[in-house]
Amino acid sequence: MRVAFAADHGGAALKDELLVRLRAQAGPDELIDLGGDGSDPTDDYPDFAVRLGGAIQRNEADRGVLVCGSGVGASVAASKMTGIRAAVCHDTYSAHQGVEHDDLNVLCLGGRIVAIELALEIVRAYLGATFSNLPRHRRRVDKVRAIEAAERQR
Ligand code: RB5
Repeated sequence: MRVAFAADHGGAALKDELLVRLRAQAGPDELIDLGGDGSDPTDDYPDFAVRLGGAIQRNEADRGVLVCGSGVGASVAASKMTGIRAAVCHDTYSAHQGVEHDDLNVLCLGGRIVAIELALEIVRAYLGATFSNLPRHRRRVDKVRAIEAAERQR
């Protein structure tokens, strides 16, 4: 799986540490760092949401991990993008169930909320999960897509 990572200044330290730790494990996933480097304290989380969401939309990545200070702004911004299903998950159950039931494709984390060990477990739970494809879950995700399509018509 190709997994893109991006973060604003509030999330860059956690994003960088996640990449270091995940790369050290030499797992099966291709990890793509889309920045930022945290050097600009005035950078804005929507810009990183667009960068990461765009990579998924262009099929340059399969899933994303987007980090800001709380994870909230990142999830609000990324979920505005067509085909992006983003959520803040600060526990492992939500991280895997979000994929299994809701086809979550962008995991959002708060770099000021979770420390590296918990964040790693959350990311592993997220990357290890697959969409269940059960009819009731497909139906619900299809209804989410219908909301998106209706919004485009307005
Ligand atoms: C940046 O200071 C902070 O507001 C942002 O990273 C994020 O937490 C927004 O939800």
